[in-house]
Amino acid sequence: MSAVVIVGAQWGDEGKGKVVDLYAPYAELVVRYAGGANAGHTLVVRGEKLILHLIPSGILHEQTKCVVGQGTVIDPAVFLDEIRALEARGLGTEGRLLVSQRAHVVLPHHKLIDGLREAKSGGDIGTTKRGIGPCYEDKVARRGIRMGDLLDSARLRTKLEANLECWRPVAEDLGGTLPSADDIVAQYGELGQALRAYIGDAAEVIRASIEAKEKILLEGAQGTMLDIDNGTYPYVTSSNAVAGGACAGAGIGPTDIGIAIGIAKAYTTRVGGGPFPTELEDDTGQQLRDAGAEYGSTTGRPRRCGWLDLVALRHAVAVNGLSELALTKLDVLTVLPELKVCVAYELDGKRLAYPPYERIEEVTPIYETLEGWDEELTSCRGRGDLPAAAQRYLEKIELEVGCRVGVVSVGPDREDTADLQDPFVG
Ligand code: GDP
Ligand code: IMO
Ligand code: MG
Repeated sequence: MSAVVIVGAQWGDEGKGKVVDLYAPYAELVVRYAGGANAGHTLVVRGEKLILHLIPSGILHEQTKCVVGQGTVIDPAVFLDEIRALEARGLGTEGRLLVSQRAHVVLPHHKLIDGLREAKSGGDIGTTKRGIGPCYEDKVARRGIRMGDLLDSARLRTKLEANLECWRPVAEDLGGTLPSADDIVAQYGELGQALRAYIGDAAEVIRASIEAKEKILLEGAQGTMLDIDNGTYPYVTSSNAVAGGACAGAGIGPTDIGIAIGIAKAYTTRVGGGPFPTELEDDTGQQLRDAGAEYGSTTGRPRRCGWLDLVALRHAVAVNGLSELALTKLDVLTVLPELKVCVAYELDGKRLAYPPYERIEEVTPIYETLEGWDEELTSCRGRGDLPAAAQRYLEKIELEVGCRVGVVSVGPDREDTADLQDPFVG
């Protein structure tokens, strides 16, 4: 078994980017398997910040190969911008970065429709307007354009003309005008040429890596509660963010994956609409937002903040088959004198240990209160360095969700980490 999957255990933005960057030196290959430029994964190295939307978070390690798998949806202009931003930092990517020819392309009209739908619904779902939903719709409807198509302009034109016809009535209904096939072929054909060296057979690279017994990190995007099948539907994204999505999204089998690590924030955040049982719409929520700098990495929107929801986390442990948790942003809780954790929900007088499939907005969270701490945690490098109350907080999480906490992140920087261990050892 050569692969470890890293998955968001909440509603996204748990710190997957930081943890993948920490684990990347232990791996030969890092593969993004789902989502698109709706993701924003932040890496901070010695105070210098980098936000990646499409390129895997292993890219800062020059010996690491990075692959963007077939389960993702690619905005080629964003991909190219990220390559150039890395080059501007003196980091070459050619020869160690590849995007699957099977990954679907986010087209201008996907973004247009996404934005128009959001405007019409008053931002009900609160998507990132990156065209993610419409692009995955095309994929499932079997009329999508794939990265490989960008390299053959005749094929691109034929597929695009048919694709645009499907969207025309939708765009008209929403009061929008579709771009012309000519314009898209010109712009995307050029992007395809600029990315030619990066588009290829990702599945073959991954297969060869498995055969060579290399170590592979599978980097998830979004989070379990935003997963199309396991999340708070319909307030979700349009892909399988969970660990299971890594198999289809990278093109590997379940027996290739030995370990699943769930990334969880020490409290809860959510961007966009949808149920959030432990949300704090008061000063405490604002304190968390301020202390945790909780503003979206992709859209800059303020993130909704709340207490740690152990019901959602228990669900994440189950549906991802988590081997362990990596807990991030524990340092942020230093601002609060006492901490609540939601151990169960109540609905219609019944106590629920797992989220119900609907009416989540109607549940009442059942809380337990734990003592806080006021020590700064950022210099802690092992669990034993943490104040006793913080250790008890970790123990409570482990007890309630039935999964051990491994790495503990105590600040945004790579260095601000306690108990970092080789994730492939398990
Ligand atoms: P991702 O989408 O899961 O990769 O997470 P984001 O990058 O969108 O959001 C996580 C934010 O928290 C980023 O700004 C990180 O730099 C920051 N961060 C990660 N871990 C920690 C931590 O342990 N403490 C603090 N204070 N910030 C952290
Ligand atoms: P990372 O990988 C947090 C949310 C959006 C919206 C819903 C659907 O950085 O954790 P979409 O644009 O995907 O159709 O939006 O999902 N969302 C995220 N929230 N982190 C993300 O990614 C997200 N990607 C999508 O805010 O509520
Ligand atoms: Mg993010």
